[in-house]
Amino acid sequence: MLVLLAVTAVVAAKAGPGRAVQFLAVGDWGGVPEPPFATPREVATAAAMGRVAAEHGADFVLALGDNFYYDGVRDEWDPRFQETFERVFAVPGLRALPWFVLAGNHDHHGNVSAQLAYSRHSDRWHFPHYYYSLRLHVPGTNATARLLVLDTVLLCGATDDFGVGAPPRGPVDAAAAEAQLSWLQGRLAAARHDRYVLVAGHYPVWSVAEHGPTACLVRLLRPLLRRHRVTAYLCGHDHNLQFLQEDGVGYVVSGAGNFMEASQSHKAAVPPGTLRFFFGAPESPGGFAHLRLDATAATITFLEATGRVLYRVALPPRDF
Ligand SMILES: *[C@@H]1O[C@H](CO)[C@@H](O)[C@H](O)[C@H]1NC(C)=O
Ligand SMILES: *[C@@H]1O[C@H](CO)[C@@H](O)[C@H](O)[C@H]1NC(C)=O
Repeated sequence: MLVLLAVTAVVAAKAGPGRAVQFLAVGDWGGVPEPPFATPREVATAAAMGRVAAEHGADFVLALGDNFYYDGVRDEWDPRFQETFERVFAVPGLRALPWFVLAGNHDHHGNVSAQLAYSRHSDRWHFPHYYYSLRLHVPGTNATARLLVLDTVLLCGATDDFGVGAPPRGPVDAAAAEAQLSWLQGRLAAARHDRYVLVAGHYPVWSVAEHGPTACLVRLLRPLLRRHRVTAYLCGHDHNLQFLQEDGVGYVVSGAGNFMEASQSHKAAVPPGTLRFFFGAPESPGGFAHLRLDATAATITFLEATGRVLYRVALPPRDF
């Protein structure tokens, strides 16, 4: 049985112009297992992330899983850490940024403990545990935010990614899934006074695309996100960019770091009227999201790897 601990790290945002905590969220970015181990889309997305970080500011990168296609890594010395991560994201603007990482279903095909252990080999790879909490502080203000990072594969099970639309099969270890869920409930209750609360995982709660909503997360997470007035839930898994909004909770899909897919085959599976934005043009060179939390709003900007702004939404602080 897995022993899962909760880890709290503190991110001190750089005191930049505009007094905000900012980060980039990218999912499903993990290259390919053959040379050159990165797709043109991953390379273009990395370059655009670097430009956006340099021009608009970013304190860190949040990696939303499927970090190494198709079967994760073997051990903490696996060359894929260099080939698919370090070398590709070595562009100006990104080199100095810490990454906070979570695992997706393809990572769980391989060795996720090796991805945790790699935190000791790289000064920018931070993967302290399967699930963990980050406390963010908006510099020069009293505003704090909480980012709760989940392992939705341990929570809901693995998928057969090539069996289209196949839902996660249920957790391998039900007690570990239960422990993660009660940890989340505790952290959400403790985040009462945080101005923004963000929850991140690999599988979507809501998605209109090929995989669609994850029934297990609609059942387990959605009521918690609503009850605790969570600002937004961030995920990948579907290979496009989406924004949905339901009962004051924002749902961000950012899974376009390596592949891009246009299917909206689950459009009828999300609550009517909740889809605000969708981008999955197959000819597009990739995309990601930029988040900016300041004293008055959480602003989410979706960008294509060309640098083009596709959609922007400002979410209000939680009311107390
Ligand atoms: C997974 O990676 C860890 C860290 O490198 C290693 O100790 C362990 O032996 C690996 N597990 C397997 C099954 O290879
Ligand atoms: C932060 O809170 C303290 C104590 O409540 C207050 O004195 C101070 O003015 C606040 N600072 C800002 C920037 O709001």
